Amino acid sequence: MKVSTRLVQKGRKARSRPGTVNLPVTRASTVTFESVADMEAVQKRFDAGEPIPTYGMMNMPLRVAFEELMVELEGGYRAATFPTGLAANAAAILACVSAGDHVLVSDSVYVPVRRFCTRTLARFGVDTTFYDPTIGAGIAGLMRPNTRLVYVESPGSHTFEVQDIPAIAKVAHERGAAVINDNAWATGIFYRAFDHGADLVVQPATKYPSGHSDVLLGAVIANEAWWPRLHQVAFDLGQTASPDDLFLAVRGMRTLDARLRRHEKSALEIATKLQAHPKVKRVLYPALESDPGHAIWKRDYLGASGLFGIELVDCPKADVDAFVDGLERFALGYSWGGFDSLIVPQNIWKGGRSVRPWTGGPLLRISIGLEDPGDLWDDLAHGLQEIGQPRRNAG
Ligand SMILES: Cc1ncc(COP(=O)(O)O)c(C=O)c1O
Repeated sequence: MKVSTRLVQKGRKARSRPGTVNLPVTRASTVTFESVADMEAVQKRFDAGEPIPTYGMMNMPLRVAFEELMVELEGGYRAATFPTGLAANAAAILACVSAGDHVLVSDSVYVPVRRFCTRTLARFGVDTTFYDPTIGAGIAGLMRPNTRLVYVESPGSHTFEVQDIPAIAKVAHERGAAVINDNAWATGIFYRAFDHGADLVVQPATKYPSGHSDVLLGAVIANEAWWPRLHQVAFDLGQTASPDDLFLAVRGMRTLDARLRRHEKSALEIATKLQAHPKVKRVLYPALESDPGHAIWKRDYLGASGLFGIELVDCPKADVDAFVDGLERFALGYSWGGFDSLIVPQNIWKGGRSVRPWTGGPLLRISIGLEDPGDLWDDLAHGLQEIGQPRRNAG
């Protein structure tokens, strides 16, 4: 079966009320058993190396369904649930490292992951080196004898560099290091991360999988070799998520394939028009032939999602602000992957990059939602007229 079919049909076995298509929300801290034998049988099923007490934190129907669907989406062996994507990012890293280790992290990584490495990991004696996301096989030059992890995020969700992950993973594996792949942008629909060398895949389900801008949730999906470590770390950290959020995420995933294809079609249409607009210097979207990451994207990816960047022609901040503030069909805000279109100025502030600082002009990130692409384009085209207008109080 294709992913689109599996995402609709799987994760429904644990149905507790025959006749409903969706699992009901089960809110529980205590889970009671019929007998000691019944309790022991359940504990055995949820065995993390040793039988563990089972209660509301683990093994609840919606959590099982969510983890099952995450494996259907991304591949891999098994998945663990986290209350946010960032918690999933951090736990995946913790599963791979010990005191005295060295990790390599892409310079284009989601900034809070960077902070987790430089602040928290550093306190536990783990050293981080950031690398140029376009480094490819050149990563070999940065590997140390104690490098245990290479962390990739492709395309980086701020500047959209596409990483040559197969080349990076080959080097990492030859040197005994694991590869974590944050697959937020493409999801398993458009990028098969395990096939390209990932050992652990992070999926911030907050974004496309949930898809309706109303859930914070994350998952890490591991291959069989890394599952025991991931499972242990997730359990030791007490990570889980609320059944209401899990319900919304599972419901969202039923329509993920259809939504992503619509995001892709609209984004490509709008990105192509933006690229030809005189007020736009560059569109940062790997699906465009002009994008520096296009060749690798074409080789490795099955599609492109609705998130991209635009670099405006040089202009004062007041012009950028007027452009954003004047838009009627794009909301101003962070997080992305929902049905609604968003725009946000990208301030890649000092500390956000150490290897490839942003040297271009005003940069904005656009998340194309499910609205009519013609309506979205009209709004952007109208707003772009603000760039270069004489302004009172400007400067
Ligand atoms: C690439 C990427 N990874 C991880 C996250 C974290 O996800 P969450 O917002 O669920 O913590 C984000 C959030 O913006 C992201 O863009």
